[in-house]
Amino acid sequence: MIKVDFENPVLDRPEGVDKKAMLGVAENSLKEVRSGKLDMTGWVNWPNEIPEELISGIKACAADISAKSDRLVVIGIGGSFLGAKCVLDILGNNGKTKVDFIGYSFSSRMMNELLDKLKKDDFSVLVISKSGGTAETVTTFSVLRKALTDKYGKEEAAKRTYMIIGAKKAGDESYLRKLADAEGIQTFDMPEDIGGRYSVFTTVGLLPIAAAGIDISRLIEGARKASSEDVYLNGGLEYACARNRAYAEGKKVEVFEFFDPYLDMFGEWLKQLFGESEGKDGKGLFPASLVFSRDLHSMGQFLQQGDPSFFETVIMPESYEGVKDVAIPDDAPEPFAGKTLNGINDSAIKGVIKAHASRGTQIIKIRFPKEDAESVGYLLYWFMTQCAVSALMSGVDPFNQPGVEDYKREMREAL
Ligand code: PA5
Repeated sequence: MIKVDFENPVLDRPEGVDKKAMLGVAENSLKEVRSGKLDMTGWVNWPNEIPEELISGIKACAADISAKSDRLVVIGIGGSFLGAKCVLDILGNNGKTKVDFIGYSFSSRMMNELLDKLKKDDFSVLVISKSGGTAETVTTFSVLRKALTDKYGKEEAAKRTYMIIGAKKAGDESYLRKLADAEGIQTFDMPEDIGGRYSVFTTVGLLPIAAAGIDISRLIEGARKASSEDVYLNGGLEYACARNRAYAEGKKVEVFEFFDPYLDMFGEWLKQLFGESEGKDGKGLFPASLVFSRDLHSMGQFLQQGDPSFFETVIMPESYEGVKDVAIPDDAPEPFAGKTLNGINDSAIKGVIKAHASRGTQIIKIRFPKEDAESVGYLLYWFMTQCAVSALMSGVDPFNQPGVEDYKREMREAL
């Protein structure tokens, strides 16, 4: 379902690269990821193992939220919001309930704007935190809990609160766990062996996605298809190899590029996935993301003529199926008259790739079939696998993030 091809492929240079050997290393890394022997690889089989009762439970909870709320406010940061936000932006929030995301900053302006909206709309709150104590999440939740209680009273506020938190352990002293126990709040457990950035197919992603009216069964089906080993063999791991080889040759940045603003959050999700998985032990490609045409008129200059320490990964749907096209009126200037926006976007894609490739930049082109739930599920799982393989190939642990803790400790001290 995913097609990968290249301009200026570093793997196909006659000198210096044993492509077959590199693909062999990637295959071994894939086996390691799938072996079940590495910590935090619960995500690998999760789409196939997710209990049917859990899927029905998530759908029932989403229906319950929709029945009583115009808005669902999702509070979380990092892996506790990016996956759901990315899927909602691509597939659209077409259900009755609008899903808002907050808690990924300390912005009082953003909070005030949301509180204003919540004065007139009925709402529920879903707080997501594996640790149960992340500063941005718990402070945001405290403010919204007060807004809920002020509007509905304590008992109804508890019924309008949902939590996705780390599974209960003996002596669990996290703020959210204690509150859930004290107030009888409906909670879902996050699987212990799945980290935030690999959690989009768990309740963390599925509940907000289902509340937005998206068919989570199709999304999971896509991930199931992408979890088949055959998908990655016979060249399917070329992406992991191409980015590793580029890094070995001195490239420092992978620029993810999209030709649709609705894929912007997909770039944010990829940045967390690759940044946290690979950026450690003094190693790692810096993941950047750009949305065209907007960024062609700013960063386009750099890509065409700036320091060549990057390569480009363009991610795009193969077809616009399901997207209503827009005709350009006949009185528009040439060469645009009578064309359509989708048609012109295709020409922009061709033109940009040709221009950027002309200076020798490696451009990796990744096409997924279309913007529907199954394709998106497939795409996310495919990238999770490629990222894990790629990080193992470069000799780092893809599943920890010790560096994220440092700022949390320093911030608490500053407080
Ligand atoms: O991927 C990760 O593990 C992190 O980005 C976390 O998702 C993020 O720090 C939020 O943590 P928590 O879910 O514990 O609030």
